[in-house]
Amino acid sequence: MDLKYGKPHSLMGWADANRARLKPPVCNAAVFPDGDYIINMVGGPNTRTDFHDNPTEEIFYQIKGNCYLNVWDRGKFDRIDIREGEIFLMPAHLIHSPQRPEAGSLCLLIEKPRPLGHVDWLRWYCPKCAALTWEASKQLESLVEDLPKIYALFYATSEAERRCKTCGTVHPGKDYAAWHALRRASA
Ligand SMILES: [Fe+2]
Repeated sequence: MDLKYGKPHSLMGWADANRARLKPPVCNAAVFPDGDYIINMVGGPNTRTDFHDNPTEEIFYQIKGNCYLNVWDRGKFDRIDIREGEIFLMPAHLIHSPQRPEAGSLCLLIEKPRPLGHVDWLRWYCPKCAALTWEASKQLESLVEDLPKIYALFYATSEAERRCKTCGTVHPGKDYAAWHALRRASA
């Protein structure tokens, strides 16, 4: 029998063997890098300010610890908690920003390859008024290689480019702690 991806094996055993890859700054490793499904284990701690608009669904299975998604919905921020042991099928195009504050947390995240012509967007929003600060789209071929290129473009923007056209607040760019502090102060 030719099992292309090997025999069934322990997922937690795999996580233990890959623990170093599940820590910052990467926090992410493919369980089956060569299969058709995109199956990643995502660790913590990891906090971010980018919001993702995925043209396909995502399955979150929070194995260890808790995480939450900051959500941008029709001009307002919202939040979805995914607690240890919970599974969540996220609809396509829910604009989300996963927050994983807990060290050692583990989430199995399953995504689909993107059909041609269905692009992913990364967006950054004003922490004070939730207006769009900056966005870019990409026909995603590799989660690992394509998304960091978009982050780099955003982090290279000037303060003037990151100044909110609605309320004048400057998005702190790469400084996620400052963004979350401004967001909390405005909630
Ligand atoms: Fe604003």
